[in-house]
Amino acid sequence: MKVVVLMGGRSYEREISLKTGEAILRALRQLGHEAVPLDVTEDLCQRLLEIKPDKVFIALHGPYGEDGRVQAVLDLLGIPYVGSGVLASALAMDKDFTKKILAFHGIPVPRWIAVKRNAPFRWNLFPAVVKPADQGSSIGLHVVEKEEDLTLALEEVWKVSQKALIEEFIQGKDVTVGILKDKPLPPIEIRPKKGVYDYESKYTKGMTEYVFVEDPSVVEKLQEIALKVHTLLELKDMSRIDFRLSDDGTPYVLEVNTIPGMTELSLFPMACNKAGIDFAQMVHILLS
Ligand code: DAL
Ligand code: MG
Repeated sequence: MKVVVLMGGRSYEREISLKTGEAILRALRQLGHEAVPLDVTEDLCQRLLEIKPDKVFIALHGPYGEDGRVQAVLDLLGIPYVGSGVLASALAMDKDFTKKILAFHGIPVPRWIAVKRNAPFRWNLFPAVVKPADQGSSIGLHVVEKEEDLTLALEEVWKVSQKALIEEFIQGKDVTVGILKDKPLPPIEIRPKKGVYDYESKYTKGMTEYVFVEDPSVVEKLQEIALKVHTLLELKDMSRIDFRLSDDGTPYVLEVNTIPGMTELSLFPMACNKAGIDFAQMVHILLS
């Protein structure tokens, strides 16, 4: 099969996307496919029409790649691709819209407000998490202890986004559950060695410890909610649902990733591996 891997792109997660893309290219070649890397440039349509791929693997993270825009181009060209469609991708990229839908369906999410630049708002729950509504890899994320620090954290958000989320900080731990073709993978607890699980601890070897959740009842609860989220948002092929598991055992959904990172340190391939699916098999399953 001739497979184009879209990688790089225009978002702040470009470097991560290149790593995800390289790993997918290697796996495709190992599987005997013709794999063609392609960046997202202005001549994307023309290039795709020339290459005529049987399928596209979108290895892009963040805006312009994970948010439905590239998916719309592929739909227009009639080229099949791995992953969620336009609407689901767009909704999942915006953490405010994601949470509105999940809250409507009774799925626990931390209390939050969405804030636009120069617009008035009221918030008095501390500590709080401030983050861009539409970025990935914890870019622009800040934990704020008191009201005076909100403005500074928001200023950081405006550097990368037009919309911020202020969210209640849930005391507990970070847990994530991948979904591969409608099947939940083993949940992973994330233990950053210092501070919060931010960009640096995500992509620096040795800065985070990953532990598979063992308690069967917790595993079952997390997987059940993750699958429900995947289904409610009409996600396709793969997703990774990130949670905060509170000290009293409530799994709060933080956000949804429609194109989870697939770098050497990434959680989705780690969970597949635990389920007995190696990287190449994972790519094969996603393509089929
Ligand atoms: N946004 C990054 C790539 C992830 O979710 O893994
Ligand atoms: Mg994300």
